[in-house]
Amino acid sequence: MKATIVVLPGDGIGPEVTAQGVRVLRAVASKFGHQIEFREALIGGCAIDTMGTALPPETSALCQAADAILLGAVGGPKWDDPNAPVRPEQGLFTIRQELGLFANLRPVTTHPKLIHASTLRPEVLKGVDLLVVRELTGGLYYGEKQRTADSASDLCAYTAHEIRRVVRRAAELARGRRKKLTSVDKANALETSRLWRQVTEEIVRKEFPDISLEHILVDACAMYLMRKPASFDVIVTENMFGDILTDEASVLAGSMGLLPSASLGEGKRGLYEPIHGSAPDIAGKGIANPYATILSVAMLLRYSLGLQAEAAAVERAVNAAIERGVLPADIAPAGHQGASTVEAGQAVVAAL
Ligand code: IPM
Ligand code: MN
Repeated sequence: MKATIVVLPGDGIGPEVTAQGVRVLRAVASKFGHQIEFREALIGGCAIDTMGTALPPETSALCQAADAILLGAVGGPKWDDPNAPVRPEQGLFTIRQELGLFANLRPVTTHPKLIHASTLRPEVLKGVDLLVVRELTGGLYYGEKQRTADSASDLCAYTAHEIRRVVRRAAELARGRRKKLTSVDKANALETSRLWRQVTEEIVRKEFPDISLEHILVDACAMYLMRKPASFDVIVTENMFGDILTDEASVLAGSMGLLPSASLGEGKRGLYEPIHGSAPDIAGKGIANPYATILSVAMLLRYSLGLQAEAAAVERAVNAAIERGVLPADIAPAGHQGASTVEAGQAVVAAL
């Protein structure tokens, strides 16, 4: 098949990890006989520096025309001035919104070889295999913002339509898994959560009678994620709750450097990125963990290109590299020198 992929390396470790993602995609293309064309564009701080905006129109246009987008990370201390007129993260928010990417899929699993990397007890980590579906284009991130010298507000707003489409996507995904859906809200405090709960109840009862649905409050969910994470299958939740819970869930896998994500809309085009940030403290050192980005590439193959076998091959190759003990510093056992970013990418290509 033929596909056009836009690569947005971004800031910090973004260019280092996307380079390994692209390398794996090239290896997949040659092994399976596909033609992938790559286009690179600016987003985030590097776009602000050269174009004065976090999402230049050329980047938007390229993304609109692409089959899929692979993104590294945006942001860094250089652009953190609270008075700056534009922030790198704005590029991310705008591209998510422009492409209508309302469902952000963040799978979390544990690997037997990486139990040491988690701060949790081994028996808690056994059998963890969950998927968080984070609503991505609504809620606090996109509500009206106000600021005076000594007051500020961010509006949290959701429509039934916005809730329905993301819950539907989560329920469909649950159908292909263990058929359990956990909707996470704060219905004891927030009006948006009460609407969320009502709409979720209606849609799942009506369209997904085969799915078992539970509602839990976000504070309790944060606790259960640490106490009995293997009990979760698919979790669906609003934008900011999903952001916070998935950083927490990375402790289960062992590191943020392992968690991929797919951001999807109504069509096949999606944006794929590791859930971690630009990690300015290690940027340029060649030690960032590329596995989250490479696993995002697997999701890209699966969801945007419909290449199931290729996606599974990439996931198996990452597992094989981990089995072989090619572990970057964030997941290497204490006292061991971590593999470099390039060595980890190389190990995946070799396993492929
Ligand atoms: C993420 C990130 C972003 C978000 C930041 C960089 C704005 O944390 O993708 O999880 O909060 O959505
Ligand atoms: Mn986040």
